[in-house]
Amino acid sequence: MKTIFAVFGDPVEHSLSPVMHNAAYKALGMDCKYHKFRVTMDDLEAAIMGARAMGFGGLNLTIPLKEKALDIVEPDTMALVIGAVNTIEFPGDAIEFSDDTIAGITGIVGHNTDGIGAVKALAASGVDILDSRVLILGAGGAARAVAYQLAKDGARVTIANRTTGRAQELAENVRSVGDANGTGLEELPELTANADIIINTTSVGMHPDTDRTLVTADMMHTGQVIFDIVYSPLETRLLREAKKAGAVTIDGIRMLVLQGAESFRIWTGIEPPVGVMEQAVRDVLGSK
Ligand code: ATR
Repeated sequence: MKTIFAVFGDPVEHSLSPVMHNAAYKALGMDCKYHKFRVTMDDLEAAIMGARAMGFGGLNLTIPLKEKALDIVEPDTMALVIGAVNTIEFPGDAIEFSDDTIAGITGIVGHNTDGIGAVKALAASGVDILDSRVLILGAGGAARAVAYQLAKDGARVTIANRTTGRAQELAENVRSVGDANGTGLEELPELTANADIIINTTSVGMHPDTDRTLVTADMMHTGQVIFDIVYSPLETRLLREAKKAGAVTIDGIRMLVLQGAESFRIWTGIEPPVGVMEQAVRDVLGSK
C-alpha cells in the first residue's frame, strides 16, 4: 500500500515540499506520495493524531504550526532548544522510550531540521564552519534554528538584528550550546569585515522588495561566504552584491532542499537523492 507523507500549514498552498519529496520517491521507485493540507492551529492535534491513525509515514509542519507542535509531540533536544518542530516522526511500535525522554506520552517525535539544513548547505559548498566567524542577520525563527546548529557545531556566532534586544536574548540562549554574541545593525560595516560567513535570515530582499539588502558589495570581500536563506527571488540583491565583491554565494534553495532531505532521512532511513530534489524545486521556481 502507498505510504502517505504530508506538510501541514496555514497557508500552505505555496509549499515546495510536495515537489521535492515526490521527485525523490519517483527517482528511488518508492511507493509513496507527499501531499499538502491546510490545517489550522486549533485542528493541529487532531490532524497529527489522524495522520498517525491512518498510518502516514511522516509530517512536515510550516507556519504557523511549528511552535504549537511542541505541546503535542515529544520534541527532540534540538527542536526543544529552537522552540519549533518542522518534522514529525511516527516511530514504529517496536521503539521503546527510555525513562529520560521528555514526554513519551504520545510516542510521536518532533524534530527541527532547519539548522542542519543550513549547516549542510554550507558543507555542500565546501565551507568548513568549525571556528569560523559567522554573522547571522536577523533574530527570528529562522535565525534561531541556524544560530543554534552553527554554534553547536563549533562556529563563533554573532547575531545582528534591527531590534538589538532580540539579538542579545537569542545569543544568551545560544550560549548554552556554543559561542554567540548579540548586537544591533549599527556596527554592520565592522561586523561584516570581521566575518568569514554572513547568513541573511531576515525577510529583507524577499519578493516584492527585491531591491533591498542589509549588506552591499563594499562591505564584503573576496573569499567571504554569503548565504541568503531567502529563495524568492532565486538570486537576491544580497547575492548579486556578493558576486560583485568576489564572494562565494549560497542561495536559499540549498537550505530548503537540505532541511527537506533531513526529514526524508528521518522518516525512511534512506539516503535522500538531494540532486534530484534540488532540481525539481529549481525547475518549479524557474518556470514561475
Ligand atoms: P522568521 O520566523 O521567518 O525568521 P520573524 O520571526 O518575523 O520571521 O523574523 C524576521 C526577522 O527579519 C527579524 O529578525 C526582523 O527584525 P526585528 O526583530 O527587528 O523585527 C528582521 N527584519 C524584517 N524586516 C526587516 C527590515 N526591514 N530591516 C531589518 N530587519 C528586518
